[in-house]
Amino acid sequence: MSQRVLILGATSAIAHAYARRKAAEGASLVLAGRRADALQANAVDLRARGAAQVDVVEADLADIASIAEVAASCRANGAFQEVLLAYGILGDQAQAETDLALARKVIDVNFTSAALWLLELLKGQPATQPLTLLVIGSVAGDRGRKSNFVYGSAKGGLERFVEGLQHARAATATRIVLIKPGFVDTPMTDGIAGKGGPLWASADKVAGDIAKAAKSGTPEVYTPWFWWFIMAIIRNVPRVIFHRTNI
Ligand SMILES: NC(=O)c1ccc[n+]([C@@H]2O[C@H](COP(=O)([O-])OP(=O)(O)OC[C@H]3O[C@@H](n4cnc5c(N)ncnc54)[C@H](OP(=O)(O)O)[C@@H]3O)[C@@H](O)[C@H]2O)c1
Repeated sequence: MSQRVLILGATSAIAHAYARRKAAEGASLVLAGRRADALQANAVDLRARGAAQVDVVEADLADIASIAEVAASCRANGAFQEVLLAYGILGDQAQAETDLALARKVIDVNFTSAALWLLELLKGQPATQPLTLLVIGSVAGDRGRKSNFVYGSAKGGLERFVEGLQHARAATATRIVLIKPGFVDTPMTDGIAGKGGPLWASADKVAGDIAKAAKSGTPEVYTPWFWWFIMAIIRNVPRVIFHRTNI
């Protein structure tokens, strides 16, 4: 029987690159997201690449009140062995500092709804039944910085949440993997000036690292790998120096 995989935020460039890899392995996919036309186009592409079955669920995944209902629609054809939680928004940091509705949206999309989706997915999950949850966080969650702390703190909160779930499910067949990309060339970063260069990765490169992490079940992965070193330095710069930087 083919592996059943749920992709939350299936219109994301990183998620679609990952879904293509799963399609090539013959997986059955459920694509959840809020743009029906883009989901259907992705479904056509994934069927052509070998997916055993592709179903589409159209929903605003950050709508907290409907998470349980949307999850039930996603599970309509059976339980999942793997879930990729990929949706997210960057938001404009300067605007979010004065526009509380935007700040709340960035936090709700990237943290609150994501955390609640993880709880929903684990509800009633038998301890012995294998399930891998792949959660896309960000290197931005490693240290609060003036250039992106609204988004960064939401991703940082998600990291703590995943860490707790990893502890809670350690003795079970559930694997929870936190993926921390650095700069990735996707629509999310189109507004960043000076995009490109050695620190930037493609969505496919990140998808390849997610695939490796899914197979090994490692609890946390930086992608590309060199972000582990960059963030180790950023995390450890003393405050007195850090506060003089402009990052
Ligand atoms: N790109 C980077 O440099 C980078 C770095 C670190 C982490 N990440 C993380 O990687 C993940 C994937 O992002 P990406 O780089 O692939 O960017 P992307 O192509 O812009 O994907 C983001 C996706 O999130 C979806 N989304 C946002 N809010 C949603 C909602 N309420 N309901 C359903 N879908 C929603 C968007 O849907 P629509 O298509 O409907 O807009 C879009 O498909 C995100 O969690 C992001 O935070 C990205």
